[in-house]
Amino acid sequence: MITTAAQLLFGLATYFPGFNKIRRKKTGGTDSARYCYSVWLRHLIMARKYGMQQVPSVVAELGPGDSLGIGLSALLSGAQKYYAFDVVNYADVQSNERILDELVKLFLKREPIPDHNEFPRLKPRLNNYDFPDDILTIESMAENLLQDRVEEIRKTIKNQGSKDKCIEYKTPWFDSSIIQRDDVDFIYSQAVLEHVDQMEGVYQSMNNWLKPGGYMSHQIDFKSHGLADQWYGHWQYEKWLWALIKGKRPYLLNRLPLSSHKKYLESNSFAVKHCAKHLEDAIAPREKLASDFQHLTDEDLVTSGAYILSSKY
Ligand SMILES: C[S@@+](CC[C@H](N)C(=O)[O-])C[C@H]1O[C@@H](n2cnc3c(N)ncnc32)[C@H](O)[C@@H]1O
Repeated sequence: MITTAAQLLFGLATYFPGFNKIRRKKTGGTDSARYCYSVWLRHLIMARKYGMQQVPSVVAELGPGDSLGIGLSALLSGAQKYYAFDVVNYADVQSNERILDELVKLFLKREPIPDHNEFPRLKPRLNNYDFPDDILTIESMAENLLQDRVEEIRKTIKNQGSKDKCIEYKTPWFDSSIIQRDDVDFIYSQAVLEHVDQMEGVYQSMNNWLKPGGYMSHQIDFKSHGLADQWYGHWQYEKWLWALIKGKRPYLLNRLPLSSHKKYLESNSFAVKHCAKHLEDAIAPREKLASDFQHLTDEDLVTSGAYILSSKY
């Protein structure tokens, strides 16, 4: 109850002019190079394990947050082009440059992947956190980390936007034609798809961007993110109350459960290659959920997160 009242007040406060100025300007996460390194290598390893044949050449990320560090890790692993799309321009040049320098050091040392001891809540979990020598060989990384190449990436950080640059960061983005059709080898996101509005259109965009046979790797958190006391508490708010809690924030939670993502994947020609679910002991009680959530499947009622790897057919 206290949480609901507090969230409602916060939502109403967003209608006051000037709210955006005092609003938190960080998302937490990608302001740490070790976090970015860990996230990228987890997505890369999972995708390789379940079918992707090589390090992707063109990558696209939804919601990079505080820095472009996950995509910079992709470039340092051999990708040639990185598209980043967010709704808020969180990632500034200074943070990106700092993260780039720290990432180069981690890759040069072939540092083991920071695991659950360092990032207890980070998923997907791996069986083995050694540096992936078989994917990022000493020879390939010697080329990827050549000083000239790193300097080229640094130059692009300072001057994004032009089509022939290796980084394109768009905020806000809403036009799917921002990327040419069938241009991307690998799309990924970390803790983002639970926030994205108009999810159906976004799945259609991802289908447009990805090459046939390309891979998508998404880690999604279905929990209430502190907006309610229980992990499923956001599914208890009726639509009108949820609209007030969201207020004028540029994004909050879309409240979609696992079954909705599965449906969108299927209707947009993505075959699921691997799905690792995070199951809760506390089952969401259907009878206490708001009317819009009565249709949730039995699987949704216990699934508080999922890592989903899929491929476009
Ligand atoms: C919880 S943060 C995660 C940031 C980062 N991926 C990480 O792992 O730390 C969620 C991010 O999703 C972004 N976001 C929300 N709606 C979006 C949309 N429609 N398209 C792209 N990004 C979006 C937010 O702006 C924010 O950067």
